[in-house]
Amino acid sequence: MTLPTRIILIGPMGSGKSTIGRLLAARLRVPFVDSDARIVQCTGVDIPTIFAIEGEPGFREREHRILAQIAREDQPMVLSTGGGAVLDPRNRELLRQMGKVIYLEVGLEEQLRRVQHDRQRPLLQVEDLATRLRELAQERGPLYRETAHWRVRGDGLRSDQVLRRILRYLREQA
Ligand code: S3P
Repeated sequence: MTLPTRIILIGPMGSGKSTIGRLLAARLRVPFVDSDARIVQCTGVDIPTIFAIEGEPGFREREHRILAQIAREDQPMVLSTGGGAVLDPRNRELLRQMGKVIYLEVGLEEQLRRVQHDRQRPLLQVEDLATRLRELAQERGPLYRETAHWRVRGDGLRSDQVLRRILRYLREQA
C-alpha cells in the first residue's frame, strides 16, 4: 500500500491535531512535525511571548516562514498546523501542494471543553470563550474546507477511532 508521503492536519484549536498527528505518524512510521513547536524552537520563546511582543501579524509571518521551510523539507511526515495557519492564502496553497490535507472538525461544545483552561493560546484569553470560538469558526470554517482534501469529524470519538477513519481514507486514496 502506498500512502501519501505527507499528511497535513488542519483544524481549530482543541480539535486534536497534535494528538492525532502523533498517533498517525507513529502508525505510518514517519516523523511527526508540529509547526507551532517549530516556531517556538526557532524563536526560543513561547507563543504567548511572540504575540505579546510582535502581535498576531508578527506571529503569522513567522508561521508562514516556518511552513514554507517545512514544505521544502523533502521527506515523509505528518504535519500538525496551528489553527490559524489557513488565514494566509499563501499557506492554503502551500499546504495543499505539500500533500494530503485533512481537516479535523470539532463541534463548539467539545472544543470549549478541551480549551477552557488553556493559558497558552493568546486568542483564547477572553472572558466570553464561547463567543470567541464561534467567531473564529465562522471566519475559518470556510477556509478549512477550502484547504482540505478531506474532513473528519472528531466529536464523540476517541483518538484511536479518528485515527482508524483517517487510515481508512488514506488506504482508499492509495
Ligand atoms: C492559533 C492556534 C494555535 C497557535 C496560536 C494561534 C490560532 O495552535 O498557532 O496560538 O490562531 O488558532 P493550535 O491550533 O495547535 O492550538
